[in-house]
Amino acid sequence: MATSTLPPATSSQLCSCKNGVFSPSQALNLKSTRTQFVGKEKGMRLTCQASSIPADRVPDMGKRELMNLLLLGALSLPTAGMLVPYATFFAPPGSGGAGGGTPAKDALGNDIIASEWLKTHGPGDRTLSQGLKGDPTYLVVEKDKTLATYGINAVCTHLGCVVPFNKAENKFICPCHGSQYNNQGKVVRGPAPLSLALAHADVIDGKVVFVPWVETDFRTGEAPWWA
Ligand code: FES
Repeated sequence: MATSTLPPATSSQLCSCKNGVFSPSQALNLKSTRTQFVGKEKGMRLTCQASSIPADRVPDMGKRELMNLLLLGALSLPTAGMLVPYATFFAPPGSGGAGGGTPAKDALGNDIIASEWLKTHGPGDRTLSQGLKGDPTYLVVEKDKTLATYGINAVCTHLGCVVPFNKAENKFICPCHGSQYNNQGKVVRGPAPLSLALAHADVIDGKVVFVPWVETDFRTGEAPWWA
């Protein structure tokens, strides 16, 4: 029977038997443990390996702290790289844009250039664009072929359906429950309780830009319910 002499505190040991691996603490009790196993199960082999790390090769505290810092830095950079786009995903589109406005976009997602838009949209036209917070918003072309200074939010104030413009009737008619709005978006028949929301439609550097409407609603003379 072989016995092993355990080195001082810097050593590490692994003891194995047919059905398991012993930890160093178990290895300290090697002699008595082995005696038990031999007594219970004759013929079982127990092998011990001992290796030691010289004391001068154990990293001192300063080196370990440096390695921890390097590891932290290596993990932080890619983590920050993933978190930044994730966080910006939840930021409202257009926030911090030109003067707090949001460039209007066409059906293809391109910025709308006012002069180009007027070449293809005649007087009385109301065509959807992408407005504030991504809401569908009508751009209005006035009778004199200029762009109206307001856009009309197409979300019905009843239950939120997108309201199409009925050119023949010259009004917006909601397909969901029949609410009607005049050609400026003022409610003229329920069940919708309120007029369609407004946004300023400004032209900045040739592009149409929607800006929140916080002034009196010119259609009703009342404070804007959406502000
Ligand atoms: S959602 Fe428009 S009338 Fe109900």
